Amino acid sequence: MDTRIATDLLEAQSLLKSGKLVAIPTETVYGLAANALNADAVIHIFETKNRPHFDPLIVHVSGLDQVDTVASHIPESAYKLMEELWPGPLTIVLQKHERIPHIVTSGLDTVGVRMPNHALTLELLRSLNFPLAAPSANPFGYISPTSAQHVAEQLGDRIPLILDGGECTIGVESTIIDCSGDTPTILRLGGTAVETIEEIIGPVQVNAISTSSPQAPGMLHSHYAPRKPMLVGNIHELLHEHGSDVSILSFKDSFHNFRNIRLSETGDLHEAARKLFAAMRKLDADQHSIIIAEFVPDYGLGRAINDRLKRAAAK
Ligand code: TXA
Ligand code: MG
Repeated sequence: MDTRIATDLLEAQSLLKSGKLVAIPTETVYGLAANALNADAVIHIFETKNRPHFDPLIVHVSGLDQVDTVASHIPESAYKLMEELWPGPLTIVLQKHERIPHIVTSGLDTVGVRMPNHALTLELLRSLNFPLAAPSANPFGYISPTSAQHVAEQLGDRIPLILDGGECTIGVESTIIDCSGDTPTILRLGGTAVETIEEIIGPVQVNAISTSSPQAPGMLHSHYAPRKPMLVGNIHELLHEHGSDVSILSFKDSFHNFRNIRLSETGDLHEAARKLFAAMRKLDADQHSIIIAEFVPDYGLGRAINDRLKRAAAK
């Protein structure tokens, strides 16, 4: 298939209306989108990504007014979060509206909903009369794409159009909070800090631990992973153990005699999140056999970065 990388919204609209897939930019990572109300179109997403059917998709909406067309029984806490934090890197799990096909939610009676903060994609969403189901636009289990080129490298020949919205400004996936039950619970650490959420709705439970059970969706132990082995710990100790055939992913220190990418010279967690996945891809593609990395401070976006490092290192 000839893939176009373009900013052509009209072409994106017409492909999506006819049940085709389009890769879309968001502030977190690129998504692989289809009409969320068209089950046949959504099946193509699972096939194209090699994604297991037990892993549900996020439904992207153009604004708060579209939420009650995809979800029902929306609690006050969810409205508060939407009003304060949308558009932005926060997915809210709610009771599913009957219009949403079961394939989208993998048979769950809840649906994850998000309004992305990206001008091109918001314009696209507003121009359509249906929401977009979209997982990250990577083969299942691999590192998520943060540029149109990343999408093209891996799914390029399998989709007709990649909407090019530049590099993602957040760089890690959205935080997922389940507001469908009695206690709001974080299911995935991501681009919205837990602290930010707690300022708005008070204390929340964080249940984003690794598991290999598919029933805790999206929380697969090994995920976001490079192809070569990755080890996370004290870089000096890891160097001592593994010798020189390594690439180093450091937070702010540099290691001059080695292949090294550092995430933020100034120790800025936002910058580190933005650069994380592109850095993992680059190190995965170089000639060394192992990636060694270190954790970053465990607060704010640092918690999401550390979560991705742990999953990338899990095998
Ligand atoms: O930032 C993001 O969230 C990106 C962009 C494209 O929006 N999307 C994304 O999608 O990361 P994906 O499919 O790679 O990850 C979504 C996660 C999945 O692991 C899935 O299990 C979880 O969200 N999820 C979706 N619906 C759910 C539901 N109803 N209950 C619990 N988890 C759900
Ligand atoms: Mg994903």
